[in-house]
Amino acid sequence: MPTLSLLETRIPATRVLEPAPVHENREAVEYDAMIERFAWLLNRPFVAMLDRVQGEHLRVLDIGTGPGWVPVELAKRHPGWTVTGVDLSDDMLTRGRRRAVDEGVAKRVRFARGSATELPFEDGAFDLVVSHFVLHHIPKPEVMLAEARRVCSNNGGVCVKDLRRLPRWRAGLQLGFSKRVLGYSEPQMAMYRESLAAALTLDEARAAAERSPLGDAKVRGFRGIDFVVTAGPLFGRSW
Ligand SMILES: C[S@@+](CC[C@H](N)C(=O)[O-])C[C@H]1O[C@@H](n2cnc3c(N)ncnc32)[C@H](O)[C@@H]1O
Repeated sequence: MPTLSLLETRIPATRVLEPAPVHENREAVEYDAMIERFAWLLNRPFVAMLDRVQGEHLRVLDIGTGPGWVPVELAKRHPGWTVTGVDLSDDMLTRGRRRAVDEGVAKRVRFARGSATELPFEDGAFDLVVSHFVLHHIPKPEVMLAEARRVCSNNGGVCVKDLRRLPRWRAGLQLGFSKRVLGYSEPQMAMYRESLAAALTLDEARAAAERSPLGDAKVRGFRGIDFVVTAGPLFGRSW
């Protein structure tokens, strides 16, 4: 049946971690190409959400920055912000640095190699700590959330957005849409399939936030396919 052939049914009911969560070589190339084409759909809603954050001069950290699209876009939108992107992939960091130069914001955007679960920064070094499409890479998500809190100042805020592990039929529709309508390549489909299998459900995201030191963090669904965690005074919450 043609409709059923659109539905991928390989997304498991329980979380399956990715074999290689750090995107190097071909994966970095494929991911960057995907962001170049589909930033309007994948990343722009996240930076638009951050436009509501009050503060002219913020020190911002982007955990798992990938090819640097988020920090570069934040720096372009907020001339008083300085943004640091951290990732474990050297190939991604190279792409981020190049993007910052090409977009004319290299003076306010820097990149550092480091782990999301052991950030190479002092306590309270940033006012705003963000992360996009990374939490599913982390075996114990509360460890990354605790690190985000540690490097965030007491008056600051944390905003983490990620995709959700969806019911099989819904994941199938997403995968079918990405393949047939958006035209994802086979490597891009493989990355997306692995990410969906490793993602947290909304309940699992709430439980992870509760296990972390994020205080009365708010965890909400976004567009039916993602979730967003906001915490700290910058988002009107207490730690
Ligand atoms: C799906 S990409 C998201 C990139 C970017 N945040 C975006 O939204 O375009 C996930 C990124 O997290 C990085 N990553 C995975 N595990 C990591 C870890 N433990 N510490 C730091 N970065 C990690 C990968 O190398 C990859 O660049």
